[in-house]
Amino acid sequence: MCGIVGYVGPQDGAALVLDALKRLEYRGYDSAGLATVNHAVLTVEKAAGRIAVLEQRLNGRVPAGRAAIAHTRWATHGAPTEENAHPHTDCGGTIALAHNGIIENAAALRRTLERRGHRFRSETDTEVLAHLIEELYDGSLVGAVIAALRSIEGTYGLAVVSTREPGTLVAARMGSPILLGIGDGEYFVASDAAAVLEHTRSVVYLDDGEVAALTADGYTIYDQDTAPIEKAVRTIEWEIGAVERGGYPHFMLKEIMEQPESIRNTLRGRLLEDEGTSRHGGINLTSGELLEIDRIVLTACGTSWHAALIGEYMLEELARIPTEVEYASEFRYRNPILDEETLVVGISQSGETADTLAAMREARQRGAHTLGIVNAVGSSVAREVDGGIYLHAGPEIGVASTKAFTSQVTALALLTLHIARLRSMSVLQGRALIQALQRLPDQVQQVLERAPEIEEIAQRYVRAPNALYLGRGYNFPVALEGALKLKEISYVHAEGYPAAEMKHGPIALIDEMMPVVVVAPRDGTYQKIVSNVQEVKARGGRVIGVVTEGDEEITRLADHVIAIPPTADCLTPILSVLPLQLLAYYIAVRRGCDVDKPRNLAKSVTVE
Ligand code: G6P
Repeated sequence: MCGIVGYVGPQDGAALVLDALKRLEYRGYDSAGLATVNHAVLTVEKAAGRIAVLEQRLNGRVPAGRAAIAHTRWATHGAPTEENAHPHTDCGGTIALAHNGIIENAAALRRTLERRGHRFRSETDTEVLAHLIEELYDGSLVGAVIAALRSIEGTYGLAVVSTREPGTLVAARMGSPILLGIGDGEYFVASDAAAVLEHTRSVVYLDDGEVAALTADGYTIYDQDTAPIEKAVRTIEWEIGAVERGGYPHFMLKEIMEQPESIRNTLRGRLLEDEGTSRHGGINLTSGELLEIDRIVLTACGTSWHAALIGEYMLEELARIPTEVEYASEFRYRNPILDEETLVVGISQSGETADTLAAMREARQRGAHTLGIVNAVGSSVAREVDGGIYLHAGPEIGVASTKAFTSQVTALALLTLHIARLRSMSVLQGRALIQALQRLPDQVQQVLERAPEIEEIAQRYVRAPNALYLGRGYNFPVALEGALKLKEISYVHAEGYPAAEMKHGPIALIDEMMPVVVVAPRDGTYQKIVSNVQEVKARGGRVIGVVTEGDEEITRLADHVIAIPPTADCLTPILSVLPLQLLAYYIAVRRGCDVDKPRNLAKSVTVE
């Protein structure tokens, strides 16, 4: 949600931050802008639309200046216009800043500032900060930023430059990620490591309340009391190729095709075959402590919430432990019943989703054990929980989540195995699940090789205005996820339903124009879903079945089938979701949609 890059060093920063900004465009892309400070001259360039529009506008004339900031926006306050694009400036044109997050008391601050004579140019909450810093400047930019932030309620990731200190870049964080990139005689600020990777692998993650001042000679980080602090420099492990498309037309397709590898990476080093269990270095709970847990709450948003639903089925069926799934946005504002015997697991690809983070904080405050199932290493959720499981799926850039989902389900299967073996599962059952997990990456590969078949089916339904997705048991959440994928990237209205619920409403919608995707691998619910398919066919619906290889009954009834290899019931979602990801992808491409940057969406929702 919005991307920020900043630079200070010996080079002219504008071209550099603009280039780095492109790596963050997936986080928000409705307007973009940059600012440079060259001696005492501040230049700001902005444009509504993608970064490419800004580039066209500049037409190769990037402004000079050794300090530069840039921003790509996902609008919250004010429409995505040029005026509302960041960076924002003060009245005197001495300060420019880029901000992620929301300033909750912006309206009140704006009124006060206007009374004091400040003139506002945008509708954004962010602009109040520029005017506040202008008022509070008293010989030190970092001092003025710290003072201004004292009046702010809300969240921010911030980068500030000023003509008053042409060689200084100031960054701050509260609830919205910011890191410093440590180069050789040059320094960066970014909201995401992907932006700086081309220049340095050494980063310092700021924590909430911290502010940093960077110059070409070094940097100082201050805590909430303005005392200088030392922070560890961390090394980014992944390669630059991981954030590039590598020959694929879209990140989404690349990430779909990466799933054999990403699942392998989630499993790596975690399976103990002889003992029939899984090993986790990061859970930070002893077997004794895990045995005392009498209830699990899984909380997440979006696709991660669908993974949580599958986790609930797994944990209840295999580990026999009462489990609930809560939308993080609901959980945090209820008065949830939690104690030391409750384990709260937050599932988040980015580890930065505002609601998930807040839910985890709430859970921790109420004394529950907290775990994170997170992809982004060093992210806020990862750092604030008691322990967790990293997905190691590699950076996910496509806004619609794919490989993170299958890795989340894999990680939930590992967690289930671990807890189940302590409680009720026999070593033989454990070994059988491990063997099924080990077969998964190759089976995922087999399904992905069916992409041309799926593309052909997709072509027939490009113009369908609606779609229904049905599944039962472990594959009900897959139906939800398939429908979400289609909605997100092709803007086709789609709904996911537990197949038996169809009779309680959606059946009224079925006619020849309504494709019905039935996720029906051969598992414990198969026979039941065959009857549901018959009901759809009896009403003229078109059925696309996702079935297990060798399937006969649904194959006979359906208009199209896509076969997946057999696996353990609880792992079927990892295979059955793949055709649905590809179906949504090909339909969206055919409809001419921008698959990697769907309208109105953002990769990481860091506002409530
Ligand atoms: C956004 C993304 C989704 C994602 C959801 C939760 O809506 O577009 O793809 O599933 O946020 O994100 P998280 O990073 O917490 O998994």
